[in-house]
Amino acid sequence: MTLLVAITGWQVEPWIDRFRRLLPERGIAVLGEPFDRRAVDYAVAWKHPPGSLAGLPNLGAVFSLGAGVDHLLSDPKLPDVPIARVVDSDLTNRMSEYVVMHCLMLLRQQRRYADRQAKRLWLDDKDQRAAADLRIGIMGMGVLGKDAAAKLRVMGFDVAGWSRSGADLDGVVGYAGAENLPAFLARTDVLVVLLPLTPETRGIVNGALLDGLARDGVLGGPALINAGRGGLQVEEEILDRLDRGSLKHAVLDVFNAEPLAADSRFWTHPGVTVTPHNAAMSDPDAIGRLVVRQIRRLEQGLPLENAVDPRRGY
Ligand SMILES: NC(=O)c1ccc[n+]([C@@H]2O[C@H](COP(=O)([O-])OP(=O)(O)OC[C@H]3O[C@@H](n4cnc5c(N)ncnc54)[C@H](OP(=O)(O)O)[C@@H]3O)[C@@H](O)[C@H]2O)c1
Repeated sequence: MTLLVAITGWQVEPWIDRFRRLLPERGIAVLGEPFDRRAVDYAVAWKHPPGSLAGLPNLGAVFSLGAGVDHLLSDPKLPDVPIARVVDSDLTNRMSEYVVMHCLMLLRQQRRYADRQAKRLWLDDKDQRAAADLRIGIMGMGVLGKDAAAKLRVMGFDVAGWSRSGADLDGVVGYAGAENLPAFLARTDVLVVLLPLTPETRGIVNGALLDGLARDGVLGGPALINAGRGGLQVEEEILDRLDRGSLKHAVLDVFNAEPLAADSRFWTHPGVTVTPHNAAMSDPDAIGRLVVRQIRRLEQGLPLENAVDPRRGY
């Protein structure tokens, strides 16, 4: 009975340490070190090298260490076993903090004040809008989108959501599917992207989509916050709209290629805020406990919680 830890791009030691402590009865194998492939019955994965989960004859399930599973489903040799993803209040709270913080920074023009402070400029400035004047539109109303929407509502923002099913939330109008996307965009000043990356959503945040955002909002032009996945965005078209001024600001946590290249224009563009794919980090303590709870459930013959539908892609 061995749990395989298959992680790249993150520090692996904290995860090994947590799983050793949480599963003392189980062997912990680490990708890149020798291990008995027949002994592995579960794997935890974050951006594992494609093909590295194949040839594990007793593998019973794979646990993504993040909420997204695009890193798993893009592996053509992914074994045909149940896959579970992270749904955890710790991660959800972190994402909502990120979304609320950046919506507030846009509303309260915090970058302008930081710039003025650097110049020691005290200007008597009466240009202050209410949160209710700012229309936020969230693309992807799943676990993360719903929580962010509820917390933005508490702050008084005018919030709508767009998803496949388009369910309404308390005080949040839901728009469903491609046919209602134009109406959703036309009422949105700040577009928050919390979609999964699937064949359907790849490249969805492109120039044409940005051109559909509201132009009559209190910020003097629309803004974008993408904390979903880099593959959702067409980066040259975002830069083009920023250069033309038809997009006022872009807050980007995720990119087509990560880490973001040192020569990327996103680093220096005055209309861009870059964060290093850490809008909502997976905490080894919280996510380790979640994975262990799932393993215990499987051992008791109970179904996995938060199982992924590979055909749907999320
Ligand atoms: N930057 C970070 O640090 C970070 C951290 C965690 C997660 N993420 C990203 O956030 C994503 C969302 O996480 P989640 O837990 O909220 O996922 P989720 O619960 O699976 O929700 C996904 C949402 O997207 C909607 N959707 C999917 N495909 C669609 C399509 N083709 N058209 C319209 N709507 C579509 C779904 O619609 P239905 O409700 O109708 O199914 C659902 O509302 C993850 O997949 C991951 O990529 C990023």
